[in-house]
Amino acid sequence: MEKHLHELTAECESRLKAGASALDVVEHAVADMERSGLYVAGRGSAPNTAGYIELDASIMDGPTRNAGAVAAITGVVNPVSVARRVMEETPHVMLAGKGALAFAREQGLEEVADPDSYYVLPVGVYEDEIYEQKHGTVGAVALDQSGGLAAATSTGGIFGKLEGRIGDTPLIGAGTWADDDIAISCTGMGEDIIRAGGVVTIAYMIKAGATPAAAVDDMLAEVKRLGGDGGVIAVTRDSEIVMTYNSQGMKRAAVSSGKPVTVATFKD
Ligand code: GLY
Repeated sequence: MEKHLHELTAECESRLKAGASALDVVEHAVADMERSGLYVAGRGSAPNTAGYIELDASIMDGPTRNAGAVAAITGVVNPVSVARRVMEETPHVMLAGKGALAFAREQGLEEVADPDSYYVLPVGVYEDEIYEQKHGTVGAVALDQSGGLAAATSTGGIFGKLEGRIGDTPLIGAGTWADDDIAISCTGMGEDIIRAGGVVTIAYMIKAGATPAAAVDDMLAEVKRLGGDGGVIAVTRDSEIVMTYNSQGMKRAAVSSGKPVTVATFKD
């Protein structure tokens, strides 16, 4: 998995250097992780208590403040790409369930041919753990050469979730946020992230004068106070990168101009 994260991050850096937009790069990164089966998103997701996979994803473009999301979608390979089409091809921000799948079909987006053989448990997750309330999510944030920021997030949600349960990930402002100053994506216990006000609280704390690191700490402390845990990745328009978590660990990778790719899971 570390190798995958390293290679994907290096590839995203090349795309940004070649002039790709932050929006294209975060969609590419999240779609790649969804396909990999290595993380709790897309192919690596676990079934709900009714026995089938429902997925959530969102994407947001800072310069335009456009956003798209899908919730409780089934049967698509890349929920993040459906979210982007919702953003670009509909007047809406979020589609859910049957309607989201119908829209993905109409858009010609790739569907899972055989769910029984497609979905796999991600690295480090065992069969007997999928009914425990564990969580996993993938996210990406980027700053491009024109100063544009974007964020995208995708998840299979928490293990053992009820049919129809939707967490923070597809909620713009809760699991994903991008504006002119910062792009943010988070992982963790969705119910507590939503009740803590979500990642948009970080953006507003910064506008009120907090440093990005302090604002992220504050938001995660509130998630903890409410009984959950989580992690945040963020990048600011000044290229400051924040990757903080109060869960056991958080697989993460970063790269910026003049600095090599770094990959880590636990505290340094
Ligand atoms: N943060 C992912 C979820 O709770 O669904």
